[in-house]
Amino acid sequence: MRVLVLTGAGVSAESGIPTFRGKDGYWKNLDPTKLATPEAFARDPQLVWDWYRERRQRIRNARPNAAHEAIARLAHHTEEFLLVTQNVDDLHARAGIPAQRMVRIHGDIFVTRCSRCDFTEKGSGGSPEPPESWATKSKSGRLRSRNGCEATAGLSIAATFEKDADLPRCPECHALLRPGVVWFGEQLSRNELERVEDFLDGGACDAVIVAGTTATFGYIIDWALRASRDGAELIEVNPEETPLSRFATRLVREPAAIALPRIVDELIALG
Ligand code: APR
Repeated sequence: MRVLVLTGAGVSAESGIPTFRGKDGYWKNLDPTKLATPEAFARDPQLVWDWYRERRQRIRNARPNAAHEAIARLAHHTEEFLLVTQNVDDLHARAGIPAQRMVRIHGDIFVTRCSRCDFTEKGSGGSPEPPESWATKSKSGRLRSRNGCEATAGLSIAATFEKDADLPRCPECHALLRPGVVWFGEQLSRNELERVEDFLDGGACDAVIVAGTTATFGYIIDWALRASRDGAELIEVNPEETPLSRFATRLVREPAAIALPRIVDELIALG
């Protein structure tokens, strides 16, 4: 059997992680242009880091739910399988999905990478924040650059350094570090895109499951339709209607943690 699973924030909702556009979703109360764009980070990196640190902590305190576990079981019982998740949390990984069977198309919230060079630090759910030492401080309290000279060149730099004093900085080039997620207006990772394309080119699927997403981004609908091109089952698991619903062969208007264990049992039995 060949199966593609596409997931979104709704799959982690029952683990206590807010969705984005659902009832108490992040974007209901917060402005994504102030928190999830490269411009927002340039404007106020502290505000952006505070939000991602809060989200990281919430995810650390969360646990995979029955939906994550069911998808992991399907991954282990299906010959050809790929999970493409939009979620930047690590709950799919913690439920046991092998990395080679998962594409994290919007990145990983526990990755910290340089906003200028290609330095990357991979943390895990349990990993602490980047070490203080990356935000080096000199006795005078002003920031000392890696080569030891005091940042004296003009107020603006010092002011910037002072203001961003406890923001993590790249140990290589000293630029600001940022969360390893894909922000609005940014390109998806070419490498991850190629992995999706390779799977889609590898043959049509027998079943496609789309769970917990508003399918806001066209590529989610495109991948679901291409994978189910030869009459495969296209199963949408979502309490609410989405732009993908009209293409689905089966609509499951239930929470993912309730519906997915049952659907996975059926597919494995069909296997
Ligand atoms: N089970 C299944 N679906 C659920 C559940 C649940 N328990 N709870 C909510 N949902 C559904 C909602 O009805 C909604 O359709 O999950 C969907 C969540 O949609 P969004 O909040 O839009 O999340 P998502 O589709 O993952 O967003 C896509 O947008 O904000 C960006 O980068 C961010 O990856 C994210 C992307």
